[in-house]
Order: sequence, then structure tokens, then C-alpha cells
Amino acid sequence: MKILITGGAGYIGSHTCVELLNAGYEIVVLDNLCNSCEKSLDAVKKLTNKDFPFYKVDLLDYAATEKVFEENKIDSVIHFAGLKAVGESTQIPIKYYHNNITGTLNLVDIMQKHGVYNLVFSSSATVYGMPKTVPITEDFPTSTTNPYGSTKLMIENILKDVYAANNKWSITLLRYFNPIGAHKSGIMGEDPKGIPNNLLPYVAQVAVGKLEYIHVFGNDYPTPDGTGVRDYIHVVDLALGHLKAIEKKTNQTGVHTYNLGTGHGYSVLDIINAFEKACGKELPYKIEPRRPGDIAECYADPTKAKKELDWEATRTITEMCEDSWRWQSNNPNGFNE
Ligand code: NAD
Ligand code: UD1
Repeated sequence: MKILITGGAGYIGSHTCVELLNAGYEIVVLDNLCNSCEKSLDAVKKLTNKDFPFYKVDLLDYAATEKVFEENKIDSVIHFAGLKAVGESTQIPIKYYHNNITGTLNLVDIMQKHGVYNLVFSSSATVYGMPKTVPITEDFPTSTTNPYGSTKLMIENILKDVYAANNKWSITLLRYFNPIGAHKSGIMGEDPKGIPNNLLPYVAQVAVGKLEYIHVFGNDYPTPDGTGVRDYIHVVDLALGHLKAIEKKTNQTGVHTYNLGTGHGYSVLDIINAFEKACGKELPYKIEPRRPGDIAECYADPTKAKKELDWEATRTITEMCEDSWRWQSNNPNGFNE
């Protein structure tokens, strides 16, 4: 089976490529490299000892995207490609809506034209907005608080309409919680451009000495230690969730929605603590005001994915921090070493 991976050079995409190749799938990667570099694909090849076609193509370029389908007999698509920075999406919303939504429209239009009806889409826990309770199940009400989140929810709705109009489609919406960690080898991991927005890459850069101290956004939340609680999931567990979606849902028509999380919440201070153990040093931090838009607690109820996909996250917070530290300390400047 041949799978097209859009956004395959990115953080989650590259880890998924490794797992797909190791499991014997053929892959084709499409990425415009706007938030990644080709060196991540060199790492994929090194780790798997396998080669695959790479197209440096923008999904906004309809003709170039269609050419990928003309040149390869694609069976399924895993669609990671998209812009993902929440803060930036509030500054340049038009770019976010255009890239994420038009890119997806082009993709599904071309897929339908070429008779490819299997799609796995990278959605996010952000579609639950401000959940009233935790853990979160897939049937919780959806809403969004920023343009990035709105693109995810709009795409989910678009894909539901696409299926309603043509029942040949098998669409799997995977709602990720907070992916962290890196490949065990230490040669592939998250490589954010500029100063990281998310907690883990920020902590890792403080640990390696690139940033001075961690800003803890609020310690007055109604949580055990007052700091925000999230469901951090190892990127390799997340990648394996895609394999299960491909294995179980290919040609099973409908729209299938799953939370991919561990079901456990960790606070900001828990994470700092776990990372200190992983890197063997104390990490300086300062308590600061809450970040606007942040919620107190967010973690998944992953029961549905366990039951229907036979998937479950197994890697611990210790492993997540150790793997992240191995990648960060071996490659302080990411792939631009
Ligand atoms: P990433 O930025 O590392 O990967 C996305 C890739 O898509 C990049 O390589 C980028 O160059 C590419 N891309 C963007 N726009 C494109 C376009 N128009 N045409 C072709 N390629 C394009 O991000 P990631 O963390 O690997 O996330 C992958 C997906 O998962 C995204 O859709 C993201 O919104 C979603 N997601 C991520 C997280 C997270 O915390 N990382 C959480 C929930 C959902
Ligand atoms: C953010 C996005 C969300 C996206 C998710 C995964 C926002 C508001 N939300 O979620 O849409 O799906 O990333 O990519 O950006 N924190 C600090 N100091 C920091 C950074 C974060 O204390 O420097 C805290 C936050 O307040 C939060 C936790 O750490 O409690 C996790 O933050 P982050 O990694 O940014 O993820 P989310 O806010 O969950």
C-alpha cells in the first residue's frame, strides 16, 4: 500500500514516516518545507535504510499537487501539512485560513478526481475549545478560541460534508493532545523555528543553555500545584496511532474521530521536574501571569482509540523527557547543525 504523507518533513510527519516504512508501507512525501527542512527526511532514510520519493510542493499549487497523484498510485493520504502556531495565527489569520483550508480543499479535490478516498487528518484537541470537564471524550462540544483552531474545526466540518456528498470516503480525524519527545536515536526531533511557543521545546532550550529561564504561565489555576495541566504524548506513540488508523480504517467508509492522548495530565512543574531528572541539572524558572487563552486542564479520554483502533500510548513522561533531551543535547541547533 502506498501512502502520501503531506507535511512529512515536519515534526510529527517525519516520525510517522519512520514507523510506516518500518511496518513495510510504501510512502511518498509532499512538503513545501515552510516549517521544516529536508534533513529530517535524510534522518528518516538513515533510520529505516529505505528510500522514497519526496516532492517539494505547496498544497496551494494545485497543478504540482495533482502531478504527485499522476506520478504515483496513491492508496491513502495522511494529511499533516498546515501552519500550527496559535499566536501567529492571530497575527496573520488570512495566511492561516488560506494555507490550511485552501490547501486541504485542493488535496481532497485532487484525491476525489483520482479515486483516492482514504484520508487521515491531523486535527487537534484545540477543537474542544474551553472544555467544561476533563477527561475529554470525542463527543464533547467543539468550539475554538483562535484562527489556528478554527482552521482545524472548519476542516473537520468540510471533511464531514465531503463524506456526506460521497459515501466512498473513509476519513479519520485524529485529535492530538500535546505531542512531545523525539526519536530514540537522537537524530530526529522537533526543530522549531525561532523562539519556541510550546512548553517542551522551550524547556529543552533552557536545559541546553540557549534560553535563560522558563516562564511558567500562571500558578493560580485550580490544579494540584496551580500550574496548567496537559496530556503530553510521545511523538512515536502518536506516529503509531496513524499506523493503526491506516490499518483499521482504510476502506472503512465514514468519518471516524479519535482522541490521541495518554489520558494522564501533567502540570508545568511536573514537566520541569521530569526534564531536570532527564538532563541531570536544575532548570531555572519564574512564575509569570497566565497566558491569555490558556485553560487550566486538558487531557483525553483515549478509550475510543483503544477500543476501535487497538491503540494505546505506552511511553512514559520520563521517556518523553529523556528522548527530547537526547535530541536537543545532540543537536542544539536542530537540523541546522
Ligand atoms: P510541523 O510544522 O513540524 O509540520 C507541518 C509540515 O507541513 C511542515 O513540514 C511544513 O513545511 C508543511 N506545510 C505547511 N503548509 C504546507 C503547504 N501549504 N504545502 C505543503 N506543506 C506544507 O508541525 P507538526 O507539529 O508536525 O504538526 C503536523 C500537523 O499536526 C499539523 O497539521 C498541526 O496543526 C497538527 N497538530 C500539531 C500539534 C503539535 O503540537 N505539534 C498538535 C495538534 C495538531
Ligand atoms: C498549545 C496551543 C494549542 C495546540 C497545542 C499543541 C495555545 C494557546 N494553544 O496548547 O492550540 O494544539 O499547543 O501544539 O498556544 N507554558 C508555560 N510556559 C511556556 C509555554 C507554555 O508555562 O513557555 C504552559 C502553558 O500555560 C500550558 C502548558 O505549559 O499550561 C502547555 O503549553 P503549550 O506547550 O503551549 O501547549 P498548549 O497550551 O496546551
